[in-house]
Amino acid sequence: MDDKINIKNLNKFIKSCDKCDLWKSKTNYVVGNGSENSDIFFIGEAPGYNEDLKGIPFIGKAGKILDYLLHSIEIDRGEVYITNILKCRPPKNRNPMQKEIELCTKYLDKEIELIKPIIISTLGNFSSNFIFNKFKLDFDKISNIHGKIFPINSVNGKLYLIPQYHPAVAVYNSNNINILKEDFKNIKYIIDKLK
Ligand code: URA
Repeated sequence: MDDKINIKNLNKFIKSCDKCDLWKSKTNYVVGNGSENSDIFFIGEAPGYNEDLKGIPFIGKAGKILDYLLHSIEIDRGEVYITNILKCRPPKNRNPMQKEIELCTKYLDKEIELIKPIIISTLGNFSSNFIFNKFKLDFDKISNIHGKIFPINSVNGKLYLIPQYHPAVAVYNSNNINILKEDFKNIKYIIDKLK
């Protein structure tokens, strides 16, 4: 990957990746999706069954919840950029392994560098942990940090990190949708502040 890479070229690299074994069991690589000009950047964990079939992030049950949450703060999915820590589905949706995260997040680092978001919202434990480490913040458990706003001075200027519970928590327990809805209001708060 050279310095002049753009998202299109990056996706070509991803789609021929064999750095870990997950490419062998996947159906499709799942690259980032949405607006490359967006200030708002979401990071999930890894593709699930539906995402693997179609090659698009967040299109299954958790994706429907993400769409609903975006709608609740008057944002259209096409206005944001959505990606994952892993670009290939782990077998039976098992958790990502440390080595897989280390290898695959080289692509995520490039996506962040190219998109230059102002708001990064991490969805769940794995992406929150990764981004806190990347920006040298102390990671606390997601139940203590969800919905909070963490201002960061990055090489690309000021950005705001807003970790969220993974939308899948509302698939299994519908009460959690209210927590997520409240937390998403802080994304809207920053968007309005930046206007
Ligand atoms: N869960 C994720 O973390 N990412 C997806 O793309 C789908 C479900």
